[in-house]
Formats: sequence, C-alpha cells, structure tokens
Amino acid sequence: MSIQRIKGFADLFPPASSAFTRMESCARAAFDRYGFVELRTPLLEYTELFQRSLGEETDIVSKEMFTFADRKGRSLTLRPEATAGVVRAFIEDGRANRESVSRLFTIGPMFRYERPQMGRMRQFHQINCECLGPDSPVADAELISMLMRFLSDIGVRDLSLKLNSLGCAECRPRYREILAGYLRAVNADALCDDCARRVEKNPLRVLDCKRDGCRELTRNAPKITDSLCTECAEHFAAVRALLGADSISFDLDHRLVRGLDYYCRTTFEAVSGAIGAQSAVAGGGRYDGLVRDMGGADVPGVGFACGMERLALLLSESGTRRPDFYLLAMNDDFLEMAFLFARTLRDCGLSGLLDSGAGGFKSRMRRAGKSGARYCLIIGADEAAKGTVSIKTMDSGEQVVIPRSQVVRYLQPGDRHD
Ligand code: HAM
Repeated sequence: MSIQRIKGFADLFPPASSAFTRMESCARAAFDRYGFVELRTPLLEYTELFQRSLGEETDIVSKEMFTFADRKGRSLTLRPEATAGVVRAFIEDGRANRESVSRLFTIGPMFRYERPQMGRMRQFHQINCECLGPDSPVADAELISMLMRFLSDIGVRDLSLKLNSLGCAECRPRYREILAGYLRAVNADALCDDCARRVEKNPLRVLDCKRDGCRELTRNAPKITDSLCTECAEHFAAVRALLGADSISFDLDHRLVRGLDYYCRTTFEAVSGAIGAQSAVAGGGRYDGLVRDMGGADVPGVGFACGMERLALLLSESGTRRPDFYLLAMNDDFLEMAFLFARTLRDCGLSGLLDSGAGGFKSRMRRAGKSGARYCLIIGADEAAKGTVSIKTMDSGEQVVIPRSQVVRYLQPGDRHD
C-alpha cells in the first residue's frame, strides 16, 4: 500500500499553490509600504516558549500542540503560531537596543492538533505581522488599516471587522470578578462542562463559547468595555476614532476575547461571510506585557495573523497563468531542434512546454490541447528545411507558418492572436 499524507496536512497543487504565491507577493508589497521587514523564525521551539507566552490554560497549549522529545529528551514543539517565536527572536537579537520600533512580518506553516474541517487544518499557513515598540493607538489603527487594505487588495469578499478591548492588568482582573459573579448568579449549572470550569479559571473565555446555551446565558453579561480604566478607555476611543477617520467600518464585539493569554487592550478579527463556519480570516491584538514576561525589556507590541488556507478559499482562480506555447516535433527526428528552439523562446521571456511524450502526431496534438497553452508550435520536415514554424492559435484554431525568427514577436503579449 502506498504511503499517504498525515491527516490534517495538505499537498498544495495549483490553483491553491498559485493562490498562496499571489498572497505572499501581495503581502510583501503591501507591508513594505509600511516599513515592515521579513523575519524567518524556526518551525521548532522549546515547548516552554509556548507554555509561557500563550498560557498553560489555553486550548492551544493544553490540547493542540505537536510536542515531542528530541534525542536528548528535551521537549520541543512545532510552532502553533508565530508571535511567541517572533518575540523570542526579538529579545535574543537585542533589537530593542538598536531600533525604537521593530516592524516584522513572517510567513509560513503553523501546526495545531485540531479537528480538521474546511478552513481548519493541522498544518496551516499564516501571514503574520508584529509591531514592537509603540503603545500609541496610532500603531493599532495603522496595523488594522494595513491588514484591511491587504485583504481587499487580494480580493477577499464579504469582509467585516470585529473590534474589542480587553483592558490591562489593572482593569481586567476587576472585570473578571464582575463577570464571574454574573455567571455564578445567572445559572452556572446551565453552562457546558468546559465553561463551568472556565467560570473560576478564565471566565472571559465563556463569552466566546459557540454553544447555544452558553451564548444565551451570556447575552446580557456585563461588557468589558464598560469596566475599562481611564487609560484603556481613552486608548480604545482613540483607536476607534482613527479607524473612523480612515473610513474603516467595524462592529464592537464584546465576545471577542481571543484564545491566547497574551492579549491586552485592542483585539480584532477580520471575518468573511463567504466561507463556512471557520469565518475568521485574520485575528490579532495588542500584547503589551509579553516581551517583558518573556525576559525582555518592557516593550509593548501589537500584531495580527491571517490564515492563508481560509484566504485561498475566497480568492478567484484568475491568477493561474496559461503557458504561452506548447512546442511539438512532428516526429522524433526534429526533437533536438524543438528542444533548442523551446530554450530560445524561454530565454526571450516566454513560458512554454516541450512535448516529450511518445506516440504519433495525433496524440502529440491531443497533449497540446490538454496543456492549456495559448499557441501550439509545430516543427516538421517542411518547417525544419525552411527555418519556419507552424503556429496554431488554440482558442480560434487559426493556423499560420512563419519564420522562426518572428515567433517571439508573434507570441508577445499585446500582439496576441487569440
Ligand atoms: P489566531 O486567531 O489563533 O491568532 O490565528 C490567526 C488566524 O490563523 C485565524 O484567524 C485563522 O485564519 C488562521 N488559523 C488559525 N488556526 C487555523 C487552523 N487550524 N487552520 C487554518 N487556519 C487557521 C494567532 O495565531 C496570533 N498569533 C495572531 C497575532 C499575531 N496576534 C498578535 N500578533
């Protein structure tokens, strides 16, 4: 029996792989305009990095990590997200001593042991941006603005933005108590088992439970935005005002608590109504205490990550390019001539395929038809003797014979005969 891929891991052929390439180049161009530079971090990190940064009680750390011991018995984990590794690298490289703001983006695979479904994989890819340094609301608004522009540049449809603030170390504990008190009073028995546990440990997570019973119980729960301290309230008001000034519409969502412990103040998610249940195409927020908690200086940060598999579901296939030519020799006597001519055409910037299969002229033509190329070029005895090529425009069926020296010009974009 042949070996198969691991459940939740995918092989990406076109059009998915072309959509990924397009997203990546669009992201690089968009982020470059905002001064972001690329950082590539390892896929493997010490497990402790994620335990300390994401939080032991989070779903990711408690049940979704690919963790194993290396040959010396050290616990390693395939990164489930990028922020922890970026912060580790930022501290290890001493970047805070060299620049007041570090704008870093990273693109690559992440790993979470989740139940696979459409838009949810065990190996998935993120485009991730982190801005380390400023605590100003301008940094939050600029980052969100950059994200929304990028998403609309690549053609994401039916897009909306959810926004919330999670307060800080001063006001959040107060809100936790208010919320836990409300949940106990309202009818904690009616909560699902997970949420019943969360009431004591992490009551905010009850707000984003998807079960109907829990949602019903939290419909009228006190909102964190009503409990923010003055600084957090002003910060959040400034973010909203800047987004408004940039004509970015958003919905305030008090259930947007995010699934990672490092967040404070602004949190946001971009969602698209055009894909199924896994509608969040990007998520992020501020994490002002994280660098300090991980052993670095007291450097605030804000960032986001987009899920590339979910974005790929939303993009049209228009990016897949047809080859310019399919070149075939009438029979094997002209194969070397065809081989060299194909190379010449590619040196001139054209893209194309050289027929290298067996069979008679008919099967060669059938392969040309299947290739999707715009033009089929044919070299037979007559063409070889006269230095010409027969060209068939595949869409119209029109056929010409022209000198080989004129083929590049004939096939040039703009001069197309299709
Ligand atoms: P996250 O919300 O866990 O945030 O993930 C961000 C995005 O990654 C999601 O909105 C989704 O599009 C995609 N994603 C997550 N899990 C999967 C999966 N199993 N399959 C497919 N796509 C998935 C973070 O990871 C934070 N590190 C974002 C951040 C950066 N916050 C600050 N800086």
